[in-house]
Amino acid sequence: METIVLYPSPGRGHLISMVELGKLILNHHPSLSISIHILVTTPPIHLGSTAPYIASVSATTPSITFHHLPSPSPPLDLTSFPSLEALLFEHLNLTNPHVHHSLLSISQSSSPIRAFIIDAFCTTALKLSISLQIPTYYFFTSSTSCLALFLYLQTIHKNTTKSFKDLNTTLLHVPGLPPIPASHMPDPTLDRTKGSYSSLLDSSSHLPKSAGIIVNSFDSLEPRILEAVSDGLCVLDGPTPPIFCIGPLIASNNNRSGCEVHQCLKWLDTQPSKSVVYLCFGSLGLFSKDQLKEIAVGLERSGQRFLWVVRSPPTQDQSKYFSPPPDPDLDSLLPDGFLDRTKERGLVVKQWVPQVAVLGHEAVVGFVTHCGWNSVLESVCAGVPMVAWPLYAEQRFNKIMLMEELKLALPINEAEERGLVSAAEVEKRVREVVDSSEGKSVRERVMAKKEEAVLATSDGGSSRIALAKLVQSWEK
Ligand SMILES: *[C@@H]1O[C@H](CO)[C@@H](O)[C@H](O)[C@H]1NC(C)=O
Ligand SMILES: *[C@@H]1O[C@H](CO)[C@@H](O)[C@H](O)[C@H]1NC(C)=O
Ligand SMILES: *[C@@H]1O[C@H](CO)[C@@H](O)[C@H](O)[C@H]1NC(C)=O
Ligand SMILES: *[C@@H]1O[C@H](CO)[C@@H](O)[C@H](O)[C@H]1NC(C)=O
Repeated sequence: METIVLYPSPGRGHLISMVELGKLILNHHPSLSISIHILVTTPPIHLGSTAPYIASVSATTPSITFHHLPSPSPPLDLTSFPSLEALLFEHLNLTNPHVHHSLLSISQSSSPIRAFIIDAFCTTALKLSISLQIPTYYFFTSSTSCLALFLYLQTIHKNTTKSFKDLNTTLLHVPGLPPIPASHMPDPTLDRTKGSYSSLLDSSSHLPKSAGIIVNSFDSLEPRILEAVSDGLCVLDGPTPPIFCIGPLIASNNNRSGCEVHQCLKWLDTQPSKSVVYLCFGSLGLFSKDQLKEIAVGLERSGQRFLWVVRSPPTQDQSKYFSPPPDPDLDSLLPDGFLDRTKERGLVVKQWVPQVAVLGHEAVVGFVTHCGWNSVLESVCAGVPMVAWPLYAEQRFNKIMLMEELKLALPINEAEERGLVSAAEVEKRVREVVDSSEGKSVRERVMAKKEEAVLATSDGGSSRIALAKLVQSWEK
């Protein structure tokens, strides 16, 4: 019996990706007897409900055991953190003694731990596992391109004394990547005086010290970049560990209620084939009331069919900053009469839809997305062209990659730096993705990548070979 321990960072998306990795390992290596232990932290704030998901995995997959780590005590003072990332880094630091305890007790009660697989945010646990001599791997839940950027951050850091936010449009050159404007670097890296910058820089220096980096991508999606990383061009002061592209890994259980078909799928059933533009911006993507109005006006003027997931604007109340937003009041947020005038061709849904099922629906023709990596992979696997509207985290960087390198998306342009997107821009891009030569060429490229994703995850495909190599590295 081989014991593997997985340690996701808090948040529904990160947890689900990590558990799906565990299921993938089990499903493809039935001959090897593996028991998987997942360390689950109790996040200091609500980051999406995971209890039903954990319960269903526990019930259906006995080889997976969840270990709930206690929350740090005393509880963190939420008002003292400038950002979500800063809060999470501190939370993970304080949780580390519990990780230590769990690693020791798991290895005592079963066999020695063959591999410890951590999220890129959990570097603080790598220092611990190295001292315990447990082979430790990263699971990188963004793209290979983003991995290249993070590995090369060491070099960029040494080459300037300024924060990226002050370098504005200065182009940064990373091996394998198109030039990146400094302003498009991931949010937590923009200000080098902040703690989250130091924490990510620290992660970047530890990534190469791992036994390997598992990436949720596939070889032929970002071939030029994978080659640059694998050839060691992104780590200048030492060797690059093996890279295992095992994706696309998509959560099969993309389904909150678990009871009946979501109303939006029934509505999509009534729409013509390839006619509906789907708009959704991730679980943390929030727009101001003014921006919601611009989107509504743009959708109405476009004359196109749409399915739009709306959330409440961000709160101004500091004490509720980290709380989940309440259900949106559509009548007060959207223009007068909008819902009525568009009811024949549009559906507005509050908060959430089963995205994998929506993207896979015959009626969907395009996806206006915040460019979170999971959403990008889901769109690629469904063969749906994207319109890139990045909001937070590493999404501005993902937009550049989707546009310049992969050519799988049309852009949404902001009126001014981080300003409002106009109704006219929304109208134009929604029309473009449905019916234009640009839209058509993006669609053809996405369809080709969809086929390649199927090949990569078929028997003998690159992602299956990478997975086999990963598992072999534990048997030695
Ligand atoms: C986390 O702990 C490390 C020491 O292991 C320390 O260097 C770092 O500053 C801490 N980070 C935060 C955000 O407290
Ligand atoms: C360092 O910065 C200079 C100018 O800003 C640039 O030309 C050079 O390519 C950079 N070097 C590296 C290794 O990124
Ligand atoms: C970046 O923009 C600020 C304000 O717009 C300006 O003061 C500064 O000189 C710019 N820096 C660079 C490197 O262009
Ligand atoms: C949700 O899951 C249940 C069972 O797990 C399934 O029967 C149902 O079809 C799913 N609904 C959607 C909308 O995917």
